[in-house]
Amino acid sequence: MSDRVLVTGGAGYIGSHACKALKAAGFTPVTYDSLVTGWQEAVKFGPFEQGDLMDRARLDEVLARHRPVAVMHFAALSQVGEAMREPGKYWRGNVAASLTLIEATLAVGIKDFVFSSTCATYGDHDGVVLDENTPQNPLNAYGASKRAIEDMLKDFGASDGLRSVVFRYFNVAGADPEGEVGEFHQPETHLIPLILDAVDGKRGALTIFGTDYPTPDGTCIRDYVHVMDLVDAHVLGLKRLKEGKVGAGIEVFCLGTGNGFSVREVINESRHVTNRPVPITEGARREGDAVKLVSGSEKAVAVLGWEPHRSTMAQMVTDAWRWHQNGGYAR
Ligand code: UFG
Repeated sequence: MSDRVLVTGGAGYIGSHACKALKAAGFTPVTYDSLVTGWQEAVKFGPFEQGDLMDRARLDEVLARHRPVAVMHFAALSQVGEAMREPGKYWRGNVAASLTLIEATLAVGIKDFVFSSTCATYGDHDGVVLDENTPQNPLNAYGASKRAIEDMLKDFGASDGLRSVVFRYFNVAGADPEGEVGEFHQPETHLIPLILDAVDGKRGALTIFGTDYPTPDGTCIRDYVHVMDLVDAHVLGLKRLKEGKVGAGIEVFCLGTGNGFSVREVINESRHVTNRPVPITEGARREGDAVKLVSGSEKAVAVLGWEPHRSTMAQMVTDAWRWHQNGGYAR
């Protein structure tokens, strides 16, 4: 029987793609998801256990029954705007919930942990290319909550020998090219799916949040990485843990490509890929947005042997567009 991995948030966008990659790599992903933001239709690659991370009894029961060899923790609230308005939701739903998960994990003797962190932990750094050693000064409660969880993992490494691989994601985009899973958030707040909705009239014009930023075209710059490449890195991180190459504490990897795209550049590429106009309006800045977030990936490449294959903007928009045109889940 193949080794099981508990995947929290396995019914979400990135978690479901990770389950696919885990299965392809010979693991059995066990999805633990509350379905508050996830979709049961996205659980296709292993067993499903519905549950909330705050429900310690349910977690204990699931961990005891499946006896996973490691935990991959994706489940989180992840909307910057919401985090600005309701920080308590993020401190409870991300930080307190992760504490419950970590304690339950250690209680059954699991020491290997993979965690989804974010470049939103960095804040603004005057446009420099970020790396694992850049100081973290988050601009919003979402980034702050993820940084706190990183700190927690470090502390449990020192006290209990927990070994964690932490990935700081830049902007994740695209979809499974085989169309089994894809991106579907309700409500949707991410740039590329919103552009595609505007292109085919599912919603009105895309509002560009701020055109007066200190960038060449006045719009924010982000580093976009294809979800399939991102989850490949997770499998490599898991293998590194299982090979005993990670010590107690956290080993951090940035997952970006080093290429920054402005909002206008993403719109232009979408126009090109879809061969349709993108209706836009220019609006005010969105609170909590950093001007430019671009990452180096040298460490992931050198240490994990990570090779992003699909992370060109054209490929990401092409895969997202195919998923979008096929209708996603039960739309
Ligand atoms: N944007 C618009 N209009 C929209 C939506 C987005 O102009 O309708 C802009 C944003 O202002 C930003 C860029 O497009 O400049 C990308 O925005 P997203 O909302 O797609 O992504 P974010 O960069 O805000 O945040 C995402 C995830 C976070 C993660 C972060 C890391 O939502 O979970 O990437 O940068 F932490």
